[in-house]
Amino acid sequence: MGNSIVQLMQSRVSSPRLTEPAPDKGVMERVYRCALRAPDHMMLRPWRYLIIESSMRAALGDIFAGSAVKQDASMKPHQVEKFRAMPMRAPMMVIAISENITHPKVPVEEQVISCGAGVAYMLLALQAEGFGGVWRTGPLAENSYLKTALDIAAHETLVGFLYIGTPCGELKPVPETDLDTHFKPWQPPAQ
Ligand SMILES: Cc1cc2nc3c(=O)[nH]c(=O)nc-3n(C[C@H](O)[C@H](O)[C@H](O)COP(=O)(O)O)c2cc1C
Repeated sequence: MGNSIVQLMQSRVSSPRLTEPAPDKGVMERVYRCALRAPDHMMLRPWRYLIIESSMRAALGDIFAGSAVKQDASMKPHQVEKFRAMPMRAPMMVIAISENITHPKVPVEEQVISCGAGVAYMLLALQAEGFGGVWRTGPLAENSYLKTALDIAAHETLVGFLYIGTPCGELKPVPETDLDTHFKPWQPPAQ
């Protein structure tokens, strides 16, 4: 099955249910360093990550709820409370942002992809360290009120909310995928 890194990558799964403890500072520093090794055209480093520590989750939940209501004033109270509770689903969270720097050779899409690679590296690193995470977006990722409240500029992309903690119970089994469905040898078109 190849070396241990390749094995780890093939066994990566998301952990939608997360509990205490959060990884400690040392673990998270290693996880963050992995994100900073994402491939990066012209070395723009077009990423920034907001770390939501445990004690900040309630304040973030209030911002989630307020932003959701501003977007949809007809929202029912129980729906608003669902948004408020979102950050409490894990002991900590990282919000990934692509800065989308204007550059003649590096389109915005490449910067968003690069940030996404950083998130994927963090998921892998978390699992390697014995922790877990899940990458979520949903309507809040495109909510302009939320972006303003979090000081995310309109031109920046909120690439994802990475929920982090200790997986509840066993990790999910890796789903079966058929290599040949996704990978096919290319051949030049017939003349
Ligand atoms: C950009 C992006 C956004 C996602 N947003 C959500 C989301 O909002 N809610 C959710 O349940 N899963 C979301 N997912 C999917 C999960 O993170 C996860 O990849 C999926 O459940 C498959 O599980 P696996 O990673 O274990 O294969 C998103 C994935 C990506 C790449």
